[in-house]
Amino acid sequence: MDMKIFQKRRREVMQHMGGGVAIVPAAPVRNRNRDVDYPYRPDSDFYYLTHFPEPEAVAVLVPGRTHGEYILFCRERNPEKEIWEGRRAGLEGAREIYGADDAFPIDDIDEILPGLLENREKVFYTIGRNTEFDNHLMGWVNEVRAKARNGVSAPGEFVDLNHILHEMRLFKRPEEIRLMKRACKVSAQAHRRAMQTCRPGMMEYEIQAELQYEFMKGGSHYPAYPPIVGGGANSCILHYTENSAELKDGDMLLIDAGAEIDGYAADITRTFPVNGRFTGEQRAIYEVVLAAQLAAIEQIRPGKHWNEPHETAIRVLVEGLKDLGLLKGSVDDLMENGKYKRFYMHRTGHWLGMDVHDVGDYKVDDVWRLLEPGMVMTAEPGIYIAEGGEDIDPRWWNIGVRIEDDVLVTREGNEILSRDVPKSIDDIEALMRG
Ligand code: GLY
Ligand code: MN
Ligand code: MN
Repeated sequence: MDMKIFQKRRREVMQHMGGGVAIVPAAPVRNRNRDVDYPYRPDSDFYYLTHFPEPEAVAVLVPGRTHGEYILFCRERNPEKEIWEGRRAGLEGAREIYGADDAFPIDDIDEILPGLLENREKVFYTIGRNTEFDNHLMGWVNEVRAKARNGVSAPGEFVDLNHILHEMRLFKRPEEIRLMKRACKVSAQAHRRAMQTCRPGMMEYEIQAELQYEFMKGGSHYPAYPPIVGGGANSCILHYTENSAELKDGDMLLIDAGAEIDGYAADITRTFPVNGRFTGEQRAIYEVVLAAQLAAIEQIRPGKHWNEPHETAIRVLVEGLKDLGLLKGSVDDLMENGKYKRFYMHRTGHWLGMDVHDVGDYKVDDVWRLLEPGMVMTAEPGIYIAEGGEDIDPRWWNIGVRIEDDVLVTREGNEILSRDVPKSIDDIEALMRG
């Protein structure tokens, strides 16, 4: 990506900082077991501002600093270590590839950082995400405080950097939308492959393998979240990730899986019959969820508020469940008393971006915020009928259906980024037959 994009983002943050200094650490490496670490994934805020992919780094923004406003602390080059652990950008790379005005070894941060805090009123920093780093920062601030008698003033105010950064991240720029479209395209191909491959008798993890094959082939190094591949009763467990059961003839299969491409997530769910043909009950539930999802997507356009797609989806779900005899009473009462929550217990969407449940406020001044072009959200209603409900005819048991798409708010309305995965019953059955 063009590094000017990141420079523009940093400038925008600095415009909101007055006489402050911003400190953004990279995510720490997490140990998995003994000599094995978890695959490294950069912190979203840090990556959004720097595009720097390595751990053990800290970005510092110091607006107005004569020797450069963007300072990157990072690991130095080390030929011996690089043979074992891989390449490092080093100080030169930090400047030349990643556009830092100034770069210092991360090992020197204790000597250098306190000086950057001197005579600055505010520190912009996200407290509470990394306790170890919080403590370091307090130590640096205390060092500056100790110099008061020399006429040096220490920052008196800590401001959560999230307020600035997360409002920026909520509105996706063209280069971000391009990455999200790629993530959706790769994920759509994976979902199609799963539909084409699925047969009774396969294991859930075999379908997960088909998904992840397409992810990696499409350039996604890891999924945006652990894929959910749940057949039969497992389709009714919202965050089922064991993916270890056999797929049975006559059951439904719910797949919630999305690829991550260069830090951006897709989040797609499709539900289909393991054997490729919907039964009457599966069809009935599926049609209700699909109608709710299409109605929710209709509500995603500028001027609508955040909760309108959710309210619309609930109404369609409640009407449908009532028509099927699974809920009794008036639609308004059922919406009011929440009895539908037995079958639909989550919300209809969330912001989507670098994080699958992305950052950004849902309310402003305590009212649901209006949708604006550039926002991306999911639309994901569902109905889950777990087995065992004594007042429910067993023919409905173990049908869990969710349909989830990723939707960009545009000036004219919306664009469904994940539209390449079939979701009508006819299209799904046709793909699975083919
Ligand atoms: N995959 C998590 C979600 O749909 O929100
Ligand atoms: Mn989602
Ligand atoms: Mn999902």
